[in-house]
Amino acid sequence: MEVLYTVVLGAALILFFCFFKFPYFLQDCRFMRKMLVVRSKRMKFREKTPFYSVLDCFLDVVKKQPHKPFILYEDQVHTYLQVDQASNKVAQALQLHAGSTVALLLENGPVLVWMWLGLFKLGCPVSMLNTNIRTKSLLHCFRCCGASVLIAGAEHREAVCEVLPDLLAEDVRVYILGDAGGVEGLHSLTEKIQQSPNTPVPHTLRDNITMSSTGLFIYTSGTTGLPKATLIPQDKIWGAPFFPYLTGVKADDVLYIPLPLYHGAGLLIGLAGAIERGITVVLRRKFSVSQFWKDCRKYDVTAFQYIGEVMRYLCNTPKTDTDRQHKVRLAIGNGLRADVWQEFQRRFGSVDIQEFYAASDGILSFINYVGKVGAVGRVNFYQKKMFPHALIQYDAEREEPVRDREGRCVPVPTGETGLLVVKITKLAPFRGYAGNPEQTEKKRLRDVFEKGDVYFNSGDLMRMDNEDFIYFQDRIGDTFRWKGENVATMEVSDVMTMLEFIEDCNVYGVEVPGHEGRIGMAAVTLKEGREFEAKEAFIHVCNFLPVYARPRFIRILESMELTGTFKQVKVTLVKEGFNPEVISQPLYVLQESSHSYVPLTHSDYSMIIAGQTCF
Ligand SMILES: *[C@@H]1O[C@H](CO)[C@@H](O)[C@H](O)[C@H]1NC(C)=O
Repeated sequence: MEVLYTVVLGAALILFFCFFKFPYFLQDCRFMRKMLVVRSKRMKFREKTPFYSVLDCFLDVVKKQPHKPFILYEDQVHTYLQVDQASNKVAQALQLHAGSTVALLLENGPVLVWMWLGLFKLGCPVSMLNTNIRTKSLLHCFRCCGASVLIAGAEHREAVCEVLPDLLAEDVRVYILGDAGGVEGLHSLTEKIQQSPNTPVPHTLRDNITMSSTGLFIYTSGTTGLPKATLIPQDKIWGAPFFPYLTGVKADDVLYIPLPLYHGAGLLIGLAGAIERGITVVLRRKFSVSQFWKDCRKYDVTAFQYIGEVMRYLCNTPKTDTDRQHKVRLAIGNGLRADVWQEFQRRFGSVDIQEFYAASDGILSFINYVGKVGAVGRVNFYQKKMFPHALIQYDAEREEPVRDREGRCVPVPTGETGLLVVKITKLAPFRGYAGNPEQTEKKRLRDVFEKGDVYFNSGDLMRMDNEDFIYFQDRIGDTFRWKGENVATMEVSDVMTMLEFIEDCNVYGVEVPGHEGRIGMAAVTLKEGREFEAKEAFIHVCNFLPVYARPRFIRILESMELTGTFKQVKVTLVKEGFNPEVISQPLYVLQESSHSYVPLTHSDYSMIIAGQTCF
């Protein structure tokens, strides 16, 4: 009896000890099992010829559950079968050669979905253009994916007409989903699609597709210059659609995607992820904070996708009695700050939040599957073994990793912030950016820990605690995020220096209390004897830059400080922010109501700091 008692007590003590030492043991096991399931599925896809793509997965869902709603949009319900047939019509209407790239300039909605699937049915790679871009940027993005066809929504007619002469000169076929209005070189596609049969095109069109065939181009604002087209091969497309499964989305969930579908998050994690689960999605043209919960109630949404901004906007709305009247049980996404996380759950009820870290040009992702507030992920044993990665010391002044005497990088101790680098291997390949070998090379970091090794430079500063939770700290280099979009500082600089009174320009993001990301600021020097022309500057930035990239603040400098290697010094400027107490030189703020930049006053500043200014 006494022996048994001792054994039981011993076992209890061991369990108790394990629970304290490894509190996440069960969750880790469950998650690793899921990762292995995903891995074995992807192995199977790879063995198939032609490759088993997201489209094949879609067609299988259509066979299995043709009448299940796939897309809910406004008051429309589109079943899987209906979307299949609509995409057949697109494929029949276009009849393009397999392999020719097509660029889409479309807002969120069912049309985008069947365009995308229809083009995949023809074996055509699809380039997803950001719908905010215009003129020079639009042309650049279109060109760098090597597309020969552009299909634009009717609402983008003006943007297309601006670049039409250039496109036509390059023999591009330009379609508009609406009335072409007699514009030469602009073709209407709407009628053509309506008149086409809804029967499938031969699947032999896709016979040559392998795991390494180009499937998609998604744009990211990289470290410098204009946006870059990230080339996503068929196999890498599958790197995202399993996120819903990994984060616990179930077959009977209704997933709300309020994010733009031209980003990897909305298109691949949201939409393709929904196809992988065979579930219903709710789409909306643009995210609307006032409609969000109304939509959730209207469509019986049970899960939604977010970025940090979405959650903050939701928390910033006035409290109502209906805050907890919804069926949402799960939110998946990234960029959620710890304070907003807690506020969201306090206010809207016990929604399970699954935060993750992923980038469309990245090769490693993390998921915070235990819901630890503030962390973007948990690094488990499997990832450590299969995807060697490290956080290394980074010199913010010189904007490069710290190297030791042998020229090797230096890992940071646990708990300290370092730059995330991931070893490029066969299992974690980095294909780079389309038509941009220079930018591609910039993301490759060589001789990191050994001579000849190559790592992917994520550009993200992260911190890992002693429990293997990983936290996002900041972005480095020449981009910052604002309103969920990456802003490339060089692109903004290029636009600013087109103004003839500006001599030099240094663009960076400054933090504003109560907002995610950073708000754009341009420090400029003026040409000798010239004044700052506020009105002209305003008109110019509105013409050339999307709303999120326009510098909110402009600061006039006497001279531009450069580093020893002639790089512009940003660190001090970023630190000084936009505080008129600190900055003695002229400081302007963009004011939409007066269609100009106006001097920033102390009271403007206080209002911004107090969160009383809308951006
Ligand atoms: C597939 O490749 C073969 C051999 O290169 C070629 O003859 C055929 O036209 C290709 N099929 C398609 C649909 O591109």
